[in-house]
Formats: sequence, structure tokens, C-alpha cells
Amino acid sequence: MPITREMLSQYVQPTFVESGTYQCEAVDLARELGFQTIHTIDIEPKHVDAAKAKGYNAYCGDSPAVLAKILPGIEGQITFWLDAHPFVKPMDIFHTHFPLMRELRSIKKYADPEKHVLLMDDMRIVPDLEKELLLDWLDMLWPDGVVRWHGDRYCDDDILCCDLRGER
Ligand SMILES: C[S@@+](CC[C@H](N)C(=O)[O-])C[C@H]1O[C@@H](n2cnc3c(N)ncnc32)[C@H](O)[C@@H]1O
Repeated sequence: MPITREMLSQYVQPTFVESGTYQCEAVDLARELGFQTIHTIDIEPKHVDAAKAKGYNAYCGDSPAVLAKILPGIEGQITFWLDAHPFVKPMDIFHTHFPLMRELRSIKKYADPEKHVLLMDDMRIVPDLEKELLLDWLDMLWPDGVVRWHGDRYCDDDILCCDLRGER
């Protein structure tokens, strides 16, 4: 957090799926940028209720399990904003508190094999070794995915993108 307009406007597709709703900043931006269908997931009922009140398809629960439920019903290209995590540093993505690795597994298993875009936030607080292992994992799951980095107000490489649409 925060998502940037400059970055997300490069990845507008029919559907936006977010893990970690929080205060609806990302879904509000996705709506403004023209995503037709928006889904968001949070483990905190108050964030989900607020998103529902704004008209979003919002789901309460552990994001990998919710993704496994909703992805089989979504057709077409999706931009994922994977940003669910407890507010603790460092972000040890291999610890079970952090859902990212399990989210990737759900996406691989349950999303249509379409040309999706995976955006992963807060890489600045992921320790270097975990980050390297994450890159290996992405390469194993999606060998044709193009990896690039985006900046935000924290640093130049806070957002990791794995673009499955091919070279652009
Ligand atoms: C950094 S905030 C998300 C910020 C938001 N995506 C944005 O761009 O403004 C992280 C959110 O993830 C949620 N969260 C933490 N663990 C989760 C899990 N296992 N499943 C779903 N949501 C989770 C937290 O409740 C919190 O609202």
C-alpha cells in the first residue's frame, strides 16, 4: 500500500481481484480506471462490510481459501492485486500468517489459464532470501511470465509484477 494510478493504469483488464481490502483505496482506484468487475477479500468483517456498502463484490475470509471458491466462476483476464497480510515487519512470506504463497497456489490451481497480471505489494518488507525464493517460485509456476518491478512512495521496487500476457 498504496497502489499507484500510474502503475495500475498499465494493467486495466476486465476484472480486478484484490486480496486485502482494508480501506478500499485500491478498489476505488480500479473502479475509477474502468475495471468492469471488481472482487475484494479481507479477513476483517468491518473492511468487507464497508466494501459491500460501496457496491463491491466483497468476501470475508482467508484470501487463499476465498480465491479457491471464487476463481472458478470468473472468466477472462484478471489483474490481481495481492496485498493481504498482517501489519507486521518483516514480511516473512513463508510463514503461515502471510497468505501470498498460498494465494499463488490458488491462482495457479483455480484461475482460468488466461493472460492474467499478478501484482504483489510491499516487497520492500520481504527479506532478500524470501524475495529470491518467491521469484524462483513464480518462474516454476509461470515460466512464460514477464517479471518487472514498480515503485511507489516508499521505494522504486515495492511492487512485483508477474505479467502473463507475454512480452509488451
Ligand atoms: C496492507 S492492507 C491492504 C491495503 C489495500 N489493499 C490497499 O491497497 O489500500 C492488508 C489487509 O489484509 C488483510 N488481511 C490480512 N491477512 C489476511 C488474510 N489471510 N486473508 C485476507 N485478508 C487478510 C488485513 O485485514 C488488511 O486489511
